[in-house]
Amino acid sequence: MKLKIALLPGDGIGPEIVGEAVKVLDSIAAKYGHQFEYSKALVGACAIDATGDPYPAETHAVCEASDVVLFGAIGDPKYDNNPAAKVRPEQGLLRMRKSLGLFANLRPLAVFDSLAGRSPLKTEIVKGADCVRELTGGMYFGRPQGRSEDGNTAYDTCVYTREEIERILHLAFGLARGRRKKLTLVDKANVIATSRLWRQIGGELAPQYPDVELEYMFVDNAAMQIIQRPTHFDVIVTENLFGDILTDEASVISGSLGMLPSASVGAKVALFEPIHGSYPQAAGKNIANPMATILSAAMLLEHVGLQQEGKAVRDAVNQAIEAGVVTEDLAAAGAKACSTTEVGDFVAGHIA
Ligand code: IPM
Ligand code: MN
Repeated sequence: MKLKIALLPGDGIGPEIVGEAVKVLDSIAAKYGHQFEYSKALVGACAIDATGDPYPAETHAVCEASDVVLFGAIGDPKYDNNPAAKVRPEQGLLRMRKSLGLFANLRPLAVFDSLAGRSPLKTEIVKGADCVRELTGGMYFGRPQGRSEDGNTAYDTCVYTREEIERILHLAFGLARGRRKKLTLVDKANVIATSRLWRQIGGELAPQYPDVELEYMFVDNAAMQIIQRPTHFDVIVTENLFGDILTDEASVISGSLGMLPSASVGAKVALFEPIHGSYPQAAGKNIANPMATILSAAMLLEHVGLQQEGKAVRDAVNQAIEAGVVTEDLAAAGAKACSTTEVGDFVAGHIA
């Protein structure tokens, strides 16, 4: 297969972890006789430094001309405590999602058997679920957003249209159909108007999916249930901000935030990215866990129909964990941690 892959390493540890994922993709290409053609582009703080724009038109063109996008991470501390910054790296990610039409972010909350012991929860209550996070609506994009003239009042607006809610719910119902047929719609319908519309539309669509059980859960309760009874969930669907928060929480159940990949889908191009951030403290030190990005590459392969290749990547990651070839976030007490490149070399080598 010939595949055009846009590479957007971004900031912080982004270039290092994407580099390891490319190593793994190259190993897949060689083994299975595929041709992967990469085009690199800038997004985030590095794009601001180079062009003044966190998502330059050129980057958008590279994404549009590709079959899929592999993205690393975004963010730089020099912007974080600087309320005066006019342009922020995160705006690049949001504009990229919006302009590529990536309205759904699929976050499989998988647990690796060999890592179950690393989970802060009892292993018998740890199992997988899927979270479908709405990605291009809600408070992230609602306008007006800003400050009053005197600077002493700030406001955000949460907006959802019927169309936005319907398309994400259809996607989630469909996903639940292929799993344990249980869909949990997480909202705050006791307080928030947009949540009440989500609930209403959930109820309207449910008869089209009679084989799927739909339940509603308030987000505060869901935050607790995810820790207390993670096996209760099959597919969780929720709005943008709740999904952002709940999946970071849920990722810890997997043993490390450095393990979870994600796929953003919607219009034509799909984008694959780890759910963790740019971990600036680790940038350039060759210590970050590349597995979430390597597993995002596995999702990328499966997305284009290369199931066997995706599985080969997953198997190799499992092998690395079992062999103890893991970075410091996963290393057993007293064991030597491997570097980012050592983990990537092992996974690529195992595939070869
Ligand atoms: C994520 C990140 C982003 C988000 C940030 C970097 C804007 O946390 O992908 O989960 O909030 O969506
Ligand atoms: Mn997040």
